[in-house]
Amino acid sequence: MKTVFFEVPKARQDIFLKFFGNENVSFYEEKLTENNVNLAKDADIISVFVDSHLNKNIIDKIPNLKFIATQSTGFSHIDCEYASTKGIKVSNVPAYGSHTVAEFAFGLILNLSRKISDANVYFKETLDYNYLPWMEGFNLEGKTLGIIGTGKIGKNVAKIAKGFEMNVLAYDLYPDLNFAKENNFTYKNFSEVIAQADILTLHTPYTKENYHMINKENIIMMKKGVYLINTARGELVDTEALIQGLDQKIIAGAGLDVLENGKDFTALNNRLIKMPNVMASPHMAFYTHEAVASIMKTTTENIKNFIAGRPENIVN
Ligand code: NAI
Repeated sequence: MKTVFFEVPKARQDIFLKFFGNENVSFYEEKLTENNVNLAKDADIISVFVDSHLNKNIIDKIPNLKFIATQSTGFSHIDCEYASTKGIKVSNVPAYGSHTVAEFAFGLILNLSRKISDANVYFKETLDYNYLPWMEGFNLEGKTLGIIGTGKIGKNVAKIAKGFEMNVLAYDLYPDLNFAKENNFTYKNFSEVIAQADILTLHTPYTKENYHMINKENIIMMKKGVYLINTARGELVDTEALIQGLDQKIIAGAGLDVLENGKDFTALNNRLIKMPNVMASPHMAFYTHEAVASIMKTTTENIKNFIAGRPENIVN
């Protein structure tokens, strides 16, 4: 079977090749789009990361396609329903980033609560070895962290928060009450969590049902001065509503690793990330040495197991 990989940097291609041996695989650094889909026209299997948007048009242009292995946990960039109608299976990497992303979420939180990044930039520019009034931060201890989505990442966020002696409230479609008891936190409904959180952090996948889960209607229900952290998916937050919430100082700051429309950068995104109280990063929460190694290992296993007739980590 012919496998074509997209979005694999050169350095990683050699590692993948070692995993695959002499099998029929080829690699491209670029994302898969309608303009370069001919590169995959003979593929039985394709593997992509999150910037290749595998819509109906692309899927239809790969006639032999049987399997899509995304090198990510999230799979909202793939039209899984349409793939299913054509008998195409989709796999993901379910667990590579559960500590990685949780740690990064706290990186954003600490940068907002203690202005570490802003102070670093200021200090390097000025060599002024004095703390200034704007550098005053706040303790996490005793603050309420609202976690939306307590899957693998959200659970690690809860554990880290407990280390900081924060109060944790959580909302999930499928609450894990045993885990909450063991880790001394409480599940509440969505509106209670967003109304009571000092810091709100999103850890759900993006699905059709939760598009703009954070929007104009519920931002006004939030505690004045709340901080919003999003390391999940940009589409969970209505960008315009977030800018308005920040302008109106309902939201004191935002830590964003993901933006609506991702790399198809909009003027609105540009405005958002340049706001002084926004800490933004280019979708890199997953990006550690350990997580990349785990992604490559699981993606290879997903493909080999599919070829051997034992598909694993199927999401559709
Ligand atoms: P998971 O599948 O283990 O957990 C997701 C949780 O969200 C589940 O408990 C589920 O019941 C809950 N959920 C789903 N829809 C919900 C809704 N509408 N309302 C409330 N709860 C809902 O997923 P995991 O591994 O924790 O990852 C979460 C998300 O983080 C991924 O789907 C992905 O989009 C994002 N992610 C971002 C990365 C980055 O680099 N920024 C890297 C890895 C994941």
